[in-house]
Amino acid sequence: MKEKVFVFAALPYVNSSLHLGHIAGAYLPYDVFRRFLKLRGYEVIASSGSDEHGTPITLKAIREGIPPEEIVQKFHKINVEIFKRMSIEFDAYIETSSELHKEITTSFLRKLKENGYIYEAEMTQPFCVKENIFLADRYVKGKCPHCGYESATGDQCENCGQTLEPNELINPLCIFDQTTPEFRQTRHLFFKLSTLQDELLRYIESRDSWRQNVLSFSKNFISRGLKDRPITRDLNWGVDVPFEGYDDKKIYVWFEALIGYLTGVSSVLGNQEDALALWKTPEIKYYHFVGKDNIVFHSIIWPAMLIAHGEMTLPYYVAANEFLNFQGEKFSKSKGTGYSMLQLLEKYNSEFIRFGVLYNLPEEHDSDFSIEEFENRVNNELIDKFGNFVNRALVLSFKKGPVTVDQIAQSELDLEAESNIREKLSSIIKEMEGVHIRNAFKAWLELAYFGNSYITNRKPWEACKKDDANCNAAIYTGTKIVYALAVSGQIFLPETSKRILSWLGYDQPVELKDDLNFPVSRLTAKPERLFEKIVNNELNLNLKVAQIDGVSDHPNAEKLYLLDLNLGDGKRRIVSGIKNSYTKEELLGKKIIVVTNLKPAVIRGETSSGMLLAAEDSKGIHLVLAPESAINGEEVKVGNFHSNFTEISIEEFRKLDIKTVKRDKDIVPALFIENKPLFFEINAGRLVLDGTPEEGLRVK
Ligand code: 2FM
Ligand code: ZN
Repeated sequence: MKEKVFVFAALPYVNSSLHLGHIAGAYLPYDVFRRFLKLRGYEVIASSGSDEHGTPITLKAIREGIPPEEIVQKFHKINVEIFKRMSIEFDAYIETSSELHKEITTSFLRKLKENGYIYEAEMTQPFCVKENIFLADRYVKGKCPHCGYESATGDQCENCGQTLEPNELINPLCIFDQTTPEFRQTRHLFFKLSTLQDELLRYIESRDSWRQNVLSFSKNFISRGLKDRPITRDLNWGVDVPFEGYDDKKIYVWFEALIGYLTGVSSVLGNQEDALALWKTPEIKYYHFVGKDNIVFHSIIWPAMLIAHGEMTLPYYVAANEFLNFQGEKFSKSKGTGYSMLQLLEKYNSEFIRFGVLYNLPEEHDSDFSIEEFENRVNNELIDKFGNFVNRALVLSFKKGPVTVDQIAQSELDLEAESNIREKLSSIIKEMEGVHIRNAFKAWLELAYFGNSYITNRKPWEACKKDDANCNAAIYTGTKIVYALAVSGQIFLPETSKRILSWLGYDQPVELKDDLNFPVSRLTAKPERLFEKIVNNELNLNLKVAQIDGVSDHPNAEKLYLLDLNLGDGKRRIVSGIKNSYTKEELLGKKIIVVTNLKPAVIRGETSSGMLLAAEDSKGIHLVLAPESAINGEEVKVGNFHSNFTEISIEEFRKLDIKTVKRDKDIVPALFIENKPLFFEINAGRLVLDGTPEEGLRVK
């Protein structure tokens, strides 16, 4: 019988749509792991859902002036769409405001009460006199007693991840009117967490394979002593408390959201009884993927709830990632840092996003995401190395036709490839089993790099000119590397891998093993190019600062100069028609800008290797000048574009829309893209037009 496994991803609050930090922190690792287990033959139940209650939601509703139901519906729908577009899949994606979840939560709570883990007690809670309400969780703000963060809320510090009680906040304030709350008595239900201290410690101590961050966070939390926790709130948005006297209260959002995992499994199996029965089998293994701010809820509170429920198997693994920062700062929608997933998906292929995130997965440490690096990586590694290799190998293979293993005479390089395939696949499998997704992905990438260098060194196009068995071996081996990448790539880049596998004649998912069965390399469809490069941030224009070191007359043309330029470590000569506007003396020593990737041209018998930037008006020609302090050879940047070093013709250059505009007091050149000006930038300062030119000139 197949082994059963659950894979869960934290239920995101639906007070906003997901950003890249969420995807990197929990959902992409979840999906990669889920796909891995399925391809290894496990019977997987994978779920998550929308966390729709609590003050995160009501606060947003208050701010937007619409009912919480509307907020919840809006962001639930958006998040579902994001997951779909990212190929992040679930067997159940529940909503905590659903009837099913309310039923399951209610019976869970009753069970805990029956088992003696729930009692009623008075407690003090912050109360805002002006608003006449108790200030539950995020309705009260103050300084974190652990790390000093100024905007911690009554439930948790988002900076250091510690869970908090409102009375622990330093200088608490009501978030609605900034007044200092009173602390008043109110009755609530409590969960007897304190009685489970020893059992939980034993549980955590038995988890040798967990990541260090999860272990130390959890041990630290227990060592401070586990206190009973209130599990109801003075709120009107949440799951009803199924006991008398609680009409004006709701169940605490964390308490019921965790039960969402049981709701997920129940909805896959069709009923709660089967889900509980499966959960009670000691063999059941399950994994929680969460961001680091959710650790203790999953490693301590949730296991405690499960123990209290009775005989439930506890989480096998809690995988908490660190944070993905955005260009040095934490992703934060309120501060406008980072990109929302919708923005990213608008611009980039979802497989690129998966690739970029996996490359930089914040598994053991925070990691940083920058758009520039992301685009470079996709272009230079995913497309240039992996994509090109796949294309080269498969195009040859398609031309050649089927090659079976008994038709090949393997060279040393082919044997090396065979062992590399096996080694990389087994390392992917081993790393994935230990939930080291970043390492597994690195092994996959190494196989792609290997493939790329294999084909370059093996040169099948040459082998195929002479010896057929040798040619066959090269074609077969190249295709087998592609096959290995596609089979293991099903977990990382599912859409891309599916396409490759379909060209190879596999229309169903292929099991992931380290000894691949590949008796014949055969293409059943013509391979296409896998990706288009990210081009919008790449520009066919290479500009450099050059100092004019020498000026002489063109021997065969009256109006032309020969300019000898100094580009730092390089010299070059250009022919230029500026004789009517500048004397030799005026030109000597000036720092100008040259287009360095222009095809050299012979002008009246003299070779010109480039062109300078200038604009012309009724007064004559105005050179584009760099400041005195500019370094010779320094590259000129245009907005956030990267230069592409391919050579361009003068016609291609003329297609670029470079005009001058007024910026502050200066007339400066700008490249117009979709009618928006992008400015030329160098470290030393601004480029300006020489003299007193008119505005709006075309630069030539
Ligand atoms: O941090 C969050 O977005 C929480 N809504 C996670 C809840 S996970 C579990 F309880 F479902
Ligand atoms: Zn803190």
